[in-house]
Amino acid sequence: MSSKNRVYMLLILLFFQIFSVFGLTNGPDAMALQALKSEWTKFPKNWEGSDPCGTNWVGITCSNDRIVSISLGNAYLEGKLSADITALSELQILDLTSNPNLTGPLPSNIGNLKKLTTLNLMGCGFSGQIPESIGSLEQLTTLSLNSNKFIGTIPASIGRLSKLFWFDIADNQIEGALPVSNGTSSPGLDMLLQTKHFHFGNNKLSGDIPEKLFSSNMTLLHVLFDGNQFTGKIPDSLSLVKTLTVLRLDRNKLTGDIPSSLNNLTILQELYLANNRFTGSLPNLTSLTSLYTLDVSNNQLQFSLVPSWISSLRSLATLRMEAIQLEGPIPIFLFSPTQLQTVVLKRNQINATLDFGTIYSNQLEFVDLQYNYITDYKPSANKRIQVMLADNPVCQDPANRLSEYCNAIQHNTSFSAPQINCPRCGQGKEPSPACRCVYPVTGILTFRSPSFSGYTNDTNFNTLHQGLDEFFKNPSYPVDSVVIRNIRENPTDHHLLIDLLVFPSEKETFNVTGMDSVISAFSTHTYKQPPIFGPYIFKADQYSPFSGGSMSANKGIIIGAAVGGAVLLLLLTIAGIYALRQRNRADRAAGRNNPFAKWNKSKSNIDAPQLMGAKAFTFDELKKCTDNFSKANDVGGGGYGQVYKGVLPSGELIAIKRAQQGSSQGELEFKTEIELLSRVHHKNVVKLLGFCFDKTEQMLVYEYIPNGSLTDSLSGKSGITLDWTTRLRIILGSSKGLAYLHENADPPIIHRDIKSNNILLNESLTAKVADFGLSKLVGDPEKVHVTTQVKGTLVSRE
Ligand SMILES: *[C@@H]1O[C@H](CO)[C@@H](O)[C@H](O)[C@H]1NC(C)=O
Ligand SMILES: *[C@@H]1O[C@H](CO)[C@@H](O)[C@H](O)[C@H]1NC(C)=O
Ligand SMILES: *[C@@H]1O[C@H](CO)[C@@H](O)[C@H](O)[C@H]1NC(C)=O
Ligand SMILES: *[C@@H]1O[C@H](CO)[C@@H](O)[C@H](O)[C@H]1NC(C)=O
Ligand SMILES: *[C@@H]1O[C@H](CO)[C@@H](O)[C@H](O)[C@H]1NC(C)=O
Ligand SMILES: *[C@@H]1O[C@H](CO)[C@@H](O)[C@H](O)[C@H]1NC(C)=O
Ligand SMILES: *[C@@H]1O[C@H](CO)[C@@H](O)[C@H](O)[C@H]1NC(C)=O
Ligand SMILES: *[C@@H]1O[C@H](CO)[C@@H](O)[C@H](O)[C@H]1NC(C)=O
Ligand SMILES: *[C@@H]1O[C@H](CO)[C@@H](O)[C@H](O)[C@H]1NC(C)=O
Repeated sequence: MSSKNRVYMLLILLFFQIFSVFGLTNGPDAMALQALKSEWTKFPKNWEGSDPCGTNWVGITCSNDRIVSISLGNAYLEGKLSADITALSELQILDLTSNPNLTGPLPSNIGNLKKLTTLNLMGCGFSGQIPESIGSLEQLTTLSLNSNKFIGTIPASIGRLSKLFWFDIADNQIEGALPVSNGTSSPGLDMLLQTKHFHFGNNKLSGDIPEKLFSSNMTLLHVLFDGNQFTGKIPDSLSLVKTLTVLRLDRNKLTGDIPSSLNNLTILQELYLANNRFTGSLPNLTSLTSLYTLDVSNNQLQFSLVPSWISSLRSLATLRMEAIQLEGPIPIFLFSPTQLQTVVLKRNQINATLDFGTIYSNQLEFVDLQYNYITDYKPSANKRIQVMLADNPVCQDPANRLSEYCNAIQHNTSFSAPQINCPRCGQGKEPSPACRCVYPVTGILTFRSPSFSGYTNDTNFNTLHQGLDEFFKNPSYPVDSVVIRNIRENPTDHHLLIDLLVFPSEKETFNVTGMDSVISAFSTHTYKQPPIFGPYIFKADQYSPFSGGSMSANKGIIIGAAVGGAVLLLLLTIAGIYALRQRNRADRAAGRNNPFAKWNKSKSNIDAPQLMGAKAFTFDELKKCTDNFSKANDVGGGGYGQVYKGVLPSGELIAIKRAQQGSSQGELEFKTEIELLSRVHHKNVVKLLGFCFDKTEQMLVYEYIPNGSLTDSLSGKSGITLDWTTRLRIILGSSKGLAYLHENADPPIIHRDIKSNNILLNESLTAKVADFGLSKLVGDPEKVHVTTQVKGTLVSRE
């Protein structure tokens, strides 16, 4: 080998090396993301080019050329989440919050994302069963699947997520019983000892709440099971979870007594048992001295007096006891808890006089006693208290009929922080507090169990606003200011809803990155609300500036000029799929009209080869097109035999490799080789067109490569001069061909004899790797029957 050749060899190997490193790291991620994108009909506009890490695709964070985070909240994505995502083996965060047009099921092998810590798909349109494999995401701490269209049951495997902190599946159509473990083999939710949040509200979960679910080893803060179809009793084990601060079991079909053991949950702040079928009487819950909210409305409790122990709940802010057959008068100290704001006792049989007396909470805002038997009312000195007494005897008295307390109108707040007094803006813009007309990110903050009520005292909302404002003052957020307004309560579930507007700082609109940073501050709970507000979710509205402009519609697969590894690998994948289809098609065709019928004439019991695109030539055909293998058509040879040039009747040029008599291999080896070669399709690899296995001949028919070998050009023999650009192109081409054989051929092929003689140049001087016929196959030795003797060219000193 000449020194020039050797330099070439080294360059090729170098490029091969570079290419394969590239292929092993960035390549698969880039390819997977391209494939993911190809399933989306809308995606961010700057998702162009082949290298997501190199060209900073929005929403993508890389580390060492691997994708570690995808964060695209409210990004107008549209399409399905394909299984390609599971190839991103370094992915830690997947946050696609608020993309309602992302639909279809989650990939069943999502459990392959072994490094995932955050999976946040809140507010998307996903459907189908939550995949069982989700239990393999061992690093997962946040699982938010709320507000989708998931159906089916909760996979028991979730019990294996030993690091899970936040588990939210609220607002779906999930059904069936809560899975609990049974022995060591079947996991269950009772194993989630690190989980602080069980947010399962508004689904179709049913069955009894298992006694097994709770234990003293759990560290749950919030158990939100409201709005399901649970039956049976409240399990006694619940009172073992001493860490519990919020318990919502309202709007189910629970029966039995309300257990007195709830009194053991001494740090409980919110207790919602409303709208069930509880019977018996209300237990004495005097130990719940941290309780802000007690809601036992609409149950089938037995007649009882308004319990006097209520007055010892010194933190109580909201008391709801609607329609639970309370009778008798209002005890004198009922309104005495100093934080008390809201008291709803409507639809009971409370009689006698409503008298606030002198000891009542100065926070008191709202007292609803409609539909009772109150005959007399002694108003308090505090004019702020709104009292509702419609449908009581006291309002039958014509003297009272027109008073405000006899007319059921609830005051609404018109709170806004800060107050904005600016002219209106057109075109969907909103005035910021400083009267700039811009496009804010807007949406609804939902607090699922606030610890206060009434909502006419602005103090808490001012605190909330200040906190938000300060949070977004951080320069990493492109935010100018924050406004909250329109405070209201959902009358069904008593969620507190607040409109939020976040104004951009620099331009009129946020860019995708800026908007996503705002949304993910909420979706990842980076923003911490004042504790009195309880857990929240933020549902962003569509960001109108992006509704048309900032997302691209998918125009199909981009076949650009870019020769980045990613695109190449993508194309190879597509080629692979194509090849597979071709194979299937060929298989089917073979069944109808076997072109290899002749194969059997050697009377062996070996099946005809399964070829893709390769044709079986007869000896006579090849004899004819090479002019009886004439010397003039002999273009070279080697140890295995001669190579002839030929012309098919169609005019197509072919190269025929004819094995020497005696050097031919066994039938099975030949069959294996042509099967293998027929599966190799790459623009930098010489293509097999067919074969001949006839009259004791073994011949391989290749495409004819007109400009001979790289050796010929380098030595000047072919008369072609190669400039440096061409030389680089040839190196890159050869590398790609080799990389293809090595990485993507099935089975993979190691060439073992790469030299400039085996790199051929076509009319446009594109490199084609040749002569890998007896290359070593990589893979299952059982399946591969090819001689693997030492190959290679001895380096001779010329
Ligand atoms: C979702 O698709 C519907 C129908 O194509 C469209 O009207 C709506 O704007 C889309 N929403 C988002 C957030 O992309
Ligand atoms: C637990 O497993 C045992 C044996 O596999 C089975 O007999 C039993 O019914 C299971 N218990 C529950 C509650 O599923
Ligand atoms: C709680 O944890 C302790 C120690 O880790 C263990 O011995 C005990 O069995 C656990 N109890 C329950 C109910 O799981
Ligand atoms: C919990 O409550 C029950 C019933 O009120 C009581 O018997 C039990 O001793 C309490 N357990 C603890 C640990 O306080
Ligand atoms: C409720 O329980 C407390 C302490 O457990 C007791 O002092 C009080 O008398 C009880 N109240 C009623 C009405 O049973
Ligand atoms: C109020 O109701 C209780 C229980 O039903 C009854 O015993 C009492 O006589 C009633 N009081 C008045 C003033 O109607
Ligand atoms: C409003 O609430 C704050 C904090 O809860 C309290 O300190 C203040 O006294 C309340 N103001 C009125 C008018 O009730
Ligand atoms: C208060 O708001 C509710 C719902 O938004 C509305 O139906 C009602 O008319 C409002 N009341 C007043 C007095 O504005
Ligand atoms: C998006 O906006 C932020 C701040 O406004 C800016 O720093 C960043 O460069 C912008 N990104 C793009 C892709 O324009």
